[in-house]
Amino acid sequence: MQYLKLLVVVIALSAVTAWAQGPSYKLGKTATAEEVKTWDTSVGPEGKELPAGKGTAAEGEKVFTARGCTWCHGPTGEEGPAPHLVGGGIAGWAFATSIWDYINRAMPLNHEGSLTPNEVYSLTAYLLNRNKIIQPGDVLDQTTLPKVQMPNRGRYIAPPVDKWKPGTPRPFKIEP
Ligand code: HEC
Repeated sequence: MQYLKLLVVVIALSAVTAWAQGPSYKLGKTATAEEVKTWDTSVGPEGKELPAGKGTAAEGEKVFTARGCTWCHGPTGEEGPAPHLVGGGIAGWAFATSIWDYINRAMPLNHEGSLTPNEVYSLTAYLLNRNKIIQPGDVLDQTTLPKVQMPNRGRYIAPPVDKWKPGTPRPFKIEP
């Protein structure tokens, strides 16, 4: 009897799984290779994955308004209501390429992936300059961006990926 009950449950579960895989809902569309690439490319510290393009702080200031960053981060990036981009957390990030990568994949919120590489280089330059990490005239591109020395770079400890086990503390040691 026990086995019979179990059998019924197993058959019922397989039916649910088969049904879930079966019908097509005719919603959405298949992502294009270009869309997948935008979401599926993460840029590491050496910037090997960075696309061609370039930008300066002056261009970034214009893009910041034109692309609506101001709606959430304030007219100059210092006001919010979203996180303050000047004098806030990003100045503490270990790699300038992470800021490029984050803006490229996650911003502007609700229109992620809509920025061109030049716009992302410009926005990164604008924010790094406003945070006094690069000079106003600096041009950021595939070569110069990975060379930007973030103030916290020396405090970054590479993640022990091969030695990781549950409970391993986060690899960052950011001190005030
Ligand atoms: C609709 C609101 C909205 C818009 C528009 C927007 N952002 Fe954001 N942004 C956010 C929010 C909310 C967060 C925090 C997300 C989180 O922590 O998960 C954020 C986080 C960020 C961060 C990381 C900040 C940190 O300290 O971690 C950066 C950099 C950033 N945004 C840049 C931009 C840029 C550049 C634009 C314009 C292209 C933009 N954002 C447009 C809402 C917005």
